[in-house]
Amino acid sequence: MGRLQNKVALITGSAGGLGLEIAVHMAKEGAKVILNDVNEELVKESAAALEADYEADYVVGDVSSKADVTRMFDQIIERHGQIDILVNNAGGSLHTPRILEEIEEEHWDKVLNVNLKGTFLTSQAFVKHTKSNGGGKIINMSSIGGRTASLITGVAYAAAKGGVINFSRRLAKEVGEFDINVNVIAPGLIISGERMRHLFYEENSEEQRQQTFSEIPLKTLGEKEDIANAAVFLASDESRYMTGAVLDVNGGRFMG
Ligand SMILES: NC(=O)c1ccc[n+]([C@@H]2O[C@H](COP(=O)([O-])OP(=O)(O)OC[C@H]3O[C@@H](n4cnc5c(N)ncnc54)[C@H](O)[C@@H]3O)[C@@H](O)[C@H]2O)c1
Repeated sequence: MGRLQNKVALITGSAGGLGLEIAVHMAKEGAKVILNDVNEELVKESAAALEADYEADYVVGDVSSKADVTRMFDQIIERHGQIDILVNNAGGSLHTPRILEEIEEEHWDKVLNVNLKGTFLTSQAFVKHTKSNGGGKIINMSSIGGRTASLITGVAYAAAKGGVINFSRRLAKEVGEFDINVNVIAPGLIISGERMRHLFYEENSEEQRQQTFSEIPLKTLGEKEDIANAAVFLASDESRYMTGAVLDVNGGRFMG
């Protein structure tokens, strides 16, 4: 019997990358997984591939839009009757500049809206559905860039991912009494797909890359499954006595 048997899990931003990996690992543990993304074509394709072996579904929508979030949660409850696990994974630098003077207002808004406001909106909808239904698990994706000043990502991302951590701690205090755990994963650099490959190998010099490796005690970049394993743990009963915690999955690069 899987560790997530009879659970319904929504993983945002899961058409590919870390989100899809988390969904696959949760499905293998028996969860019914609901993918979400703004990329309709890709999320449909990924859900169809998952459905061949597991219980899976998808909802298309923008996590930074309250109307979309409300509709997506209504769809999930209507089709599946419950939701037990929320992974707020949608996010990233979203192709915005890193340097302060190059950041336009629209770049700032995009990064803060998807990473931080999206986490707020989905958490609010999740708590509404779970607080009188036995509780559940919220897992929010921060980053090493939200834990410490990393030059690999920019100031908007640092602000958003730092915000995700304190949002989670504060929310954990508020919803603990409803048996809702709120925890955070702060990944180090993971080559999760083409975007990250480009960011690390094309946008950084050889010197910057060597510098990165020299800062990682385990001397290697993480794999997608390292993050998915942490997510399954935080979604399972094994982490029942943890809330407001941050799991640093980064090879020891930052030790909180
Ligand atoms: N890969 C890493 O090294 C790394 C490190 C630290 C933190 N993270 C975090 O992990 C998460 C996943 O990263 P990834 O590398 O898999 O990124 P990714 O770009 O591969 O995946 C992000 C997904 O989110 C979707 N998305 C974007 N905006 C959305 C919106 N408004 N609503 C719904 N979906 C939306 C994208 O379409 C994409 O499929 C992000 O929050 C990222 O900041 C990643």
